[in-house]
Amino acid sequence: MNIRTLLETHVKAAMTAAGVPEECNPVIALSKKPEFGDYQANGAMGAAKTMGKKPRDIAQDIVNNLALDGIASKVDIAGPGFINIHLSPTWLSSQSNAALASDRLSIATAHEQHNVVIDYSSPNLAKEMHVGHIRSTIIGDTLARLLEFLGHRVIRQNHVGDWGTQFGMLIGELEQQMQAGEQATLALKDLETFYQQAKIHFDADPEFANTARQYVVRLQSGDEQILALWEKFREISLQHAQDAYQKLNITLTPSDVRGESFYNDDLPKVIEDLKACGLAKEDQGAQVVFLEELADKEGNPSVAIVQKKDGGYLYSTSDLAAIRYRVETLQADRVMVIVDSRQSLHLQQVFIIAKKAGFAPESVRLEHHAFGTMLGQDGKPFKTRSGGTVKLIELVDEAIDRAEKIIAEKDPALSNEERLSVAQKVGIGAIKYADLCKTRTNDYVFNWDTMLSFEGNTAPYLQYAYTRIQSIFRKAAMTPDNLTGDVSIASAEEHALAKQCLQLEEVLELVAADAYPHHLCNYLYELASLFMRFYEACPILKDEVTAEQRQSRLQLCHLTARSIHLGLDILGIETMDKM
Ligand code: ARG
Repeated sequence: MNIRTLLETHVKAAMTAAGVPEECNPVIALSKKPEFGDYQANGAMGAAKTMGKKPRDIAQDIVNNLALDGIASKVDIAGPGFINIHLSPTWLSSQSNAALASDRLSIATAHEQHNVVIDYSSPNLAKEMHVGHIRSTIIGDTLARLLEFLGHRVIRQNHVGDWGTQFGMLIGELEQQMQAGEQATLALKDLETFYQQAKIHFDADPEFANTARQYVVRLQSGDEQILALWEKFREISLQHAQDAYQKLNITLTPSDVRGESFYNDDLPKVIEDLKACGLAKEDQGAQVVFLEELADKEGNPSVAIVQKKDGGYLYSTSDLAAIRYRVETLQADRVMVIVDSRQSLHLQQVFIIAKKAGFAPESVRLEHHAFGTMLGQDGKPFKTRSGGTVKLIELVDEAIDRAEKIIAEKDPALSNEERLSVAQKVGIGAIKYADLCKTRTNDYVFNWDTMLSFEGNTAPYLQYAYTRIQSIFRKAAMTPDNLTGDVSIASAEEHALAKQCLQLEEVLELVAADAYPHHLCNYLYELASLFMRFYEACPILKDEVTAEQRQSRLQLCHLTARSIHLGLDILGIETMDKM
């Protein structure tokens, strides 16, 4: 059990014993200063209001009933009624030893295992993956790794945009280029350029435009020749995405692809069902759903179109079909859609309709985890110097290049092979971490120098902290595996470091609940900083250190390294022994 929950349980029991009503919560928080202990229980104030008593008296009653023997070395009351809990160094030592003995650092798997569908990355196959998809890919992959680690059954869904009218134009263009002797893979080498060519062609040549329109109809009616072209296009575009995933160490595989086209056959049924339950109504020839739930200030309901006048289906229709599939076939308890905040209204509408239509029962959690825009140095959406879309794969290559230069300067002794391998981990780590450490919902400015810096809240800083610990072991001429002896906590720095290591569990649970990975990043940054402070204050290999002290401190080093490693692993970032 994580420390926070453990204290919560104990304080809650004490509150009940002190006659505090059940609805009052313990309100456990981290103490801001060491003199206020490690954790605080701030529930006395709320209880006082409910009970019409003095908060300090209630705090005293709670403390009188609080049985933290062995866990806390001291409990005192401060200010109006804050209960300060000082964790016992002996308890922290034994918890640290237990974590070291466990292959998952004593981190429990979730009480209730959920089937969690995570819809992420989800690029449109007509074009190159743009920066919005980079964010979705990085954030979604972290959530997938995290929930899996916590014992849930994660079902990744790459909801690619592989259907729609633009495919008529694109496969028309592909057909012509292939007829002119071009190979499909070469024609589609750069999807952005290809799209532009097709568009120019479409606008300038009415005959081609006509063909393109016919192809849309033929594609929708399942014409084999057109389907074969579409499949070719789709396959090559998906391969681009898969190459990028591989390079970026993203866990998505081809079998996770469940694109819009997958739901085609179900779309008429979706409309039929929406009509049957009275949700979809005809409005100017189209089928629409009016949602009072999302009415504007004047009380006008929000309008979701689910079928066009010409009978065509929309993005919302396939999203509704997707929810039903996820609930019925994939048995999802929780659906997390990771897509930028501009789609918030769309997803709100879809989720409400799905619940009202019974596509998803009330018990299934439908969640949109939105994120802001990635901005360039100029504060505008991130673009290439010439104003084009930044390709994911080019971004990764540049990160690796830049990391390689920095590493070559820092450690000229590394072999070529070592340098390249380190550069890969550092470059990819930097890109991912720069994204993950920002509050997800905010826009953020992409900056190479900050993300690749070895100072501050960056991946290289954390990777460096990890290698530093490995080098301590090398200097001690031993490996963590042949380490013996227990952790024993004597100094404030050891206390702070051990506690931070043991807090990983509560941080992971927090991120699993609210899907904000920056909590984990901030935690890791704090951990690495506490390690540096410990390392300065507590000598390890110096002569005056006793054998027991050395063992204990090396154990703490090892616990720190393992915590950093696990945290970074969940963020999809690799560590190395040297850099
Ligand atoms: N393909 C969409 C886009 O690029 C994102 C899809 C997100 N997932 C969903 N179920 N709508 O904007």
